[in-house]
Amino acid sequence: MAMIYKDPWVLKENKFDHLHLGKTEAIMSQGNGYMGLRACAEERYTGECRGLFVSGTFNKFDETEVTELPNCADMTEMEIFLNGKLFSLQKGNIKSYSKELCLKSGELKRSIVWCSDKGERYNLSFLRIVSLKNLHTIAQKVTITPLSGDTTLSLACGINAQITNSGSQHFSEGAKRFYEKRYMQLVATTTESKIDFVFSTDTTLSVNSKKQIAMNRRRIFSKYDAYVAKGQTVTIEKISTVHTTRDKQTENLSLEQLQEFALKNLKQQVTLGYAGILQDSKTRWDELVWQNIPIEIETDNIKDILAVRFAQYHLQIMAPAHDNRMNIGAKGLSGEGYKGHTFWDTEIFALPYYIFSQPSTALSLLQYRYLSLPGARQKAADGGYKGAQYPWESAWLTDGEVTPLFGGADIVTGLPTPILTGQLEIHITCDVVYGIWQYYKASQDESFMREYGYEIVFDCANFWASRLQEGSDGLLHINNVIGPDEYKDGIDDDAFTNHFAKWNLLLAVEYYNKLQGSDVSDVFERLKGKISLDCKLWEDKASKTYVPMPNERGIIPQNRTFLDLKQIDLTKYKNQTQVGTIYKDYNQHQICNMQVCKQADVLLLILLMENLFSPKAKQANWNYYEPRTLHDSSLSLSTHSILASDMGQEDLAYELFERACNIDMGENMSSSNEGIHAGSIGGIWQCVVFGFAGFRVTENTIRLAPKLPKHWRSLNFYLWLKGEKIKVTVTHKGVDVSKEGYIAIPLNSSPF
Ligand code: BGC
Repeated sequence: MAMIYKDPWVLKENKFDHLHLGKTEAIMSQGNGYMGLRACAEERYTGECRGLFVSGTFNKFDETEVTELPNCADMTEMEIFLNGKLFSLQKGNIKSYSKELCLKSGELKRSIVWCSDKGERYNLSFLRIVSLKNLHTIAQKVTITPLSGDTTLSLACGINAQITNSGSQHFSEGAKRFYEKRYMQLVATTTESKIDFVFSTDTTLSVNSKKQIAMNRRRIFSKYDAYVAKGQTVTIEKISTVHTTRDKQTENLSLEQLQEFALKNLKQQVTLGYAGILQDSKTRWDELVWQNIPIEIETDNIKDILAVRFAQYHLQIMAPAHDNRMNIGAKGLSGEGYKGHTFWDTEIFALPYYIFSQPSTALSLLQYRYLSLPGARQKAADGGYKGAQYPWESAWLTDGEVTPLFGGADIVTGLPTPILTGQLEIHITCDVVYGIWQYYKASQDESFMREYGYEIVFDCANFWASRLQEGSDGLLHINNVIGPDEYKDGIDDDAFTNHFAKWNLLLAVEYYNKLQGSDVSDVFERLKGKISLDCKLWEDKASKTYVPMPNERGIIPQNRTFLDLKQIDLTKYKNQTQVGTIYKDYNQHQICNMQVCKQADVLLLILLMENLFSPKAKQANWNYYEPRTLHDSSLSLSTHSILASDMGQEDLAYELFERACNIDMGENMSSSNEGIHAGSIGGIWQCVVFGFAGFRVTENTIRLAPKLPKHWRSLNFYLWLKGEKIKVTVTHKGVDVSKEGYIAIPLNSSPF
């Protein structure tokens, strides 16, 4: 195991592992919501996946592929020759090595003592930052000290736009230019969405060097030759910027003007230098996160503290809070996985963090859903339905459904497995509504609701009203869907979907009636003529919707047939270290016909709709479904951990929390290859705040019913509620809630 977690601020790898480069590339990735940069080495390796992603810059490679977030030009690469020998950790030998990400400053650092195969020793350090202050800036600082004798240094670096997304090249090449024989700029344009990217960079060396400028296909770079004496340290600083014609701030500029603007920004950042950029960024991290909304855990278990900070770090860098036309990808901005698409992961798993920690980011993420209503209406209409139906996978606002049609190999047929989620996983529509409901409950942001929220809730209710189908029993059913458990497809009366559809209809009724009796009836004026506002219809449909309830054994049938499916021994798959191993033995069709769940389904329903089911029913369903759940989705463990806390099973809750943290931070060195797990990381925060602190917003009040892990002495965190920040302190003795000038209150009471 090469990952070390001994410092509560630092993720560290102490052994170079060329077979598992993806792990640290993803978990140590850096970013700022505008862009995400994988933590690849400066020197190149086979098996690496270099990656730089700019939020919202989607492109479709061709008609056979769905739109995806393009992996854009690489500005971190450096080719280094020392006394004629290429610096590579796969050559010569490594005397010492560490790679660290400091969460507090956001700085990535590699420290290496390397011996070339000529036996010459060098001390090298590589520092890197993606600025949280100037969202367009990447800064690198490299130092090299020859330890055993004088050396010649040859360095080649610049902008390399030869990068693809697993072979799909999303850019056509544009202008390349050196300015003032120094600053390099390369323009590349996405092939279908026609977004121009302007990459600019500058490199300086602390010693005299001979410089040569060069260009070739999709690449612009400089070569430097220098002489470095034994014991002398040469410092290389490389400052780079990325701008695109999708950036809101500069959207009125022509490409030429944007190039000029980018050059000006680059020069200004170069003046600051690495140290200045780092300092600015560090200050921003403190202002936004570490001093503003810290989560403090008093425990001797450093990994727990680190894991929660890891979650806050990634939740900060994955969210495009600067632009409400963008949302969070299932892998954040840390890899090509899931093509940068947004799923229900945002509303159900990540959004609660922003609602309670950074409400302005939550607002922006929900505005994205409002702005993508035209696509949602189109999707409903394409299926012959009314209202708004959100795509299972979303990208740019007008893209509509972007779920790919085929996935991995089918073990039985040898063909690619069809992906049906885009057509059948329709619960996303009520998940979006659930997100709005949660945000509104916590913030009481009426202006958001009037401008955006009510319209979404009403038009999603219109979708459900048209989607429900009358059965021979006279009740309304929802047939042919996929629920949260994606190991079942084409099923009828999925408990999660039916309950949430009914809930969405009832919420529309509740909001409609509330608005009618208030002085904000101008909302109706605006919506009349735009969408149908038939409250009677919603009420009628809700009253007739069939919702699966606990049977005589207390079990809620996950869908119409689940409880009758055959059962197999799942031990082998439950004990796996990799996810999805069941597909090595069975194909989707076979798995569909077994009592096996990919992830929390009925149990998630119970968690999200806690008032619907008794504690006894919760336990009965836990006992039934958990043994049948493989946790093959990273979203599953946090749900189980929170429920275990709710049920008073502290040890189990903690064990599941640890497993949830290990999805990215654990020993499985390939689990994060395609990027971190954004929803699961949101789930880590939920385990702490909803699980261990037992926090919930209920009707006009809050609940805190803590179940602190035994070895945590205390837990402190901040929550934004109704526009005010409150501090919560949990110990084994009780809980304090305070706000500025507010007094501590006893366990389980509410400040409202
Ligand atoms: C899960 C989905 C999830 C998606 C993206 C899938 O494996 O089953 O629930 O939305 O991954 O994270």
